[in-house]
Amino acid sequence: DSAPLIDPFARPISYLRVSVTDRCDFRCTYCMAEHMQFLPKKELLSLEELDRLCSAFIGLGVKKLRITGGEPLVRRDIMTFFRSVSRHLDSGQLEELTLTSNGSQLARFAPELAAIGIRRINVSLDTLDPAKFAAITRWGRLDQVLEGLKAAKAAGLQVKINTVALKGFNEDELFDLVRWCGEEGFDLTFIEVMPMGEMGEEERLDQYWPLSQLRARLAERFTLVDLAHRTGGPARYVSVGGTGQKIGFITPLSHNFCESCNRVRITCTGELYMCLGQEDRADLRAPLRASAQDADLVQAIREAISRKPKGHDFDYSRQKVEGQMPRHMSHTGG
Ligand code: GTP
Ligand code: 5AD
Ligand code: SF4
Repeated sequence: DSAPLIDPFARPISYLRVSVTDRCDFRCTYCMAEHMQFLPKKELLSLEELDRLCSAFIGLGVKKLRITGGEPLVRRDIMTFFRSVSRHLDSGQLEELTLTSNGSQLARFAPELAAIGIRRINVSLDTLDPAKFAAITRWGRLDQVLEGLKAAKAAGLQVKINTVALKGFNEDELFDLVRWCGEEGFDLTFIEVMPMGEMGEEERLDQYWPLSQLRARLAERFTLVDLAHRTGGPARYVSVGGTGQKIGFITPLSHNFCESCNRVRITCTGELYMCLGQEDRADLRAPLRASAQDADLVQAIREAISRKPKGHDFDYSRQKVEGQMPRHMSHTGG
């Protein structure tokens, strides 16, 4: 039973995002509350269970695996997991193994991540100002992340910086971020702030900086050329005239990309979310724990994929009426 996963709208599911922990050493204000109640350890999938789950999806045609969190590199012994799943790269069944990280632990882990076959990583960074960095992450140290990025570069990892566009916070750094990424050889993607987590309604709306506006600002200084290039991710890219630097835009609110959605996501407790913006999910932990054979697990995965919705409908005005989305990005992994 290894027929590839195809959803009801004929979209092949080739990209799996897996959150390996809900914990993080930072508390970005748009992502987490300051005092987070993290899950008890026993609720989490073990590293062995995570491996089994990923392997089952790879057996069903997943080609790209992105490890997320929380911060994946704060999970104890996570390199054991990475080393183990990297066997699917060696066998050629998996095309890309990658992670999204806040960069705080990269100085320590970058060399081994590169050694097991990881080629690119996405690192979240919203500002280049140490004081603002400490404020948005609530206590993070920018120099630690910059060290991590240096180590990643030295190890030969390609880096993509993810910057959440926040009105009144990093508007004034737009050109500095572009220039710095250009100098460092990092790709750069801007993300519209999504209505998740516990940030107050007012604050979220105040911080919403539509990427159409950000792009117009860029276009005042640069010639931007739309690129057809897609990474299998949700970003749309432009290239900057003159330098050829690539800049991506992830715009779940002003323009969704559901029609070409190729992904599903698994939480650190083994729940499969078919869509980031919908609450429907399937428990995979039960079939995983009920039997050492994968038959029931595969059945549960297929059944869930057959319910994948057509799309999400993030919408600030609607959220305002119905109340905020209780789910944290760190739980689903984005
Ligand atoms: P690549 O294209 O491979 O570089 O990765 P990516 O952009 O899919 O992954 P990354 O983890 O860097 O995600 C960047 C942002 O996109 C995060 O804020 C994610 O939450 C968001 N994102 C990823 N997948 C989806 C999705 O399916 N829907 C929406 N709305 N946002 C997503
Ligand atoms: N809106 C947009 N992006 C978010 N991220 C976390 N929370 C949010 C949110 N509410 C981003 C992080 C990271 C990526 C995985 O998700 O900045 O780059
Ligand atoms: Fe941690 Fe990333 Fe959430 Fe920031 S956005 S608190 S770094 S998981």
